[in-house]
Amino acid sequence: MEKQHKVQCYAAPLEGITGYIYRNAHQHIFQGVDKYFTPFVTPKPKKGLNTREKNDIAPEHNKNIPVVPQILTNKAADFIKVAGMMEELGYKEVNLNLGCPSGTVVSKKKGSGFLADLEGMKYFFDEVFSQVNIEVSVKTRLGVENPDEVIDLMNVYNAFPISEVIVHARVREDYYKRPVNQEAFAQCLAISKHPVCYNGDLFTAQDIENLTAKFPDIKAVMLGRGMVADPQLTEVFCEKEAYGDSISVENRQELDYVRWKAFLDELCYGYEHIMSGGRNVLFKLKEVWSYMITFFPESEKYGKKIKKAKTVEEYQRIVDSLFREMGIV
Ligand SMILES: Cc1cc2nc3c(=O)[nH]c(=O)nc-3n(C[C@H](O)[C@H](O)[C@H](O)COP(=O)(O)O)c2cc1C
Repeated sequence: MEKQHKVQCYAAPLEGITGYIYRNAHQHIFQGVDKYFTPFVTPKPKKGLNTREKNDIAPEHNKNIPVVPQILTNKAADFIKVAGMMEELGYKEVNLNLGCPSGTVVSKKKGSGFLADLEGMKYFFDEVFSQVNIEVSVKTRLGVENPDEVIDLMNVYNAFPISEVIVHARVREDYYKRPVNQEAFAQCLAISKHPVCYNGDLFTAQDIENLTAKFPDIKAVMLGRGMVADPQLTEVFCEKEAYGDSISVENRQELDYVRWKAFLDELCYGYEHIMSGGRNVLFKLKEVWSYMITFFPESEKYGKKIKKAKTVEEYQRIVDSLFREMGIV
């Protein structure tokens, strides 16, 4: 299917899930993702990046994938150093994490903790934009406690040549659970001089269609948990956007579980290749399944079985029998 959509689709960073094994498998099997954002790397002043982080952004692990590395820091010097490193590796854009709500991150005034210090942020951007050559986008929340904070925040972003503002339409205090605030997002869109991407609670192609109909000026949508649950989500949306209701129901793309199986096999193979010990491999696969399981019949029964699997072989047997019951393998 040729991609014709006007609204771009980005794969959100999900730490522990969307690393390079996941990105490679997804990009190989499914279409429709315009950019994959890496889970954040945190530069340490002396040591730089750790081995896991270096592996995740290594060009040989991200061949032919449109990847944007994400950086979590509030120190301009550390950001500049890592951004320079990314530029040397061939990346065109880096993304600043201004959304992470975790207590340990926020207490260090990083992630969404940085949103409480607008003066510090202006100083940070002044330094960064006087020295970097690579495009810098931000992924922000609406504020720390109150969505009204977004007005001042957007004005700070407007003062710098940020390439794109991705807005997770919640404040820090909402974490990932409380309802998204689309009214406050509308304010961002009205104020921002930069292209804006919407993020938060888009789980179905219909959700994306409703959102893009409501906000036709957005450049992109970013998909997180919805895309881990349904790795085909971008394809279904692209088709809907390209053909609208003109495509007949019979010709609509069905969820193609043969490719879902191929994707899961590739994930398993990829993790087995880089991880020692079945336990670590199983942990990764179980995490993906905790999102995906809702798309399968008898999800409760199979969800429990997968969770209880003790070895990769046992896991494979359970998954095979699930797909066999569905008539897939
Ligand atoms: C397990 C998990 C890990 C995440 N890791 C990151 C991260 O590394 N960087 C980041 O900017 N956001 C991270 N997020 C936030 C997501 O990128 C996204 O903003 C959030 O899940 C809301 O979008 P969604 O409703 O489409 O999932 C994470 C979220 C979850 C649930």
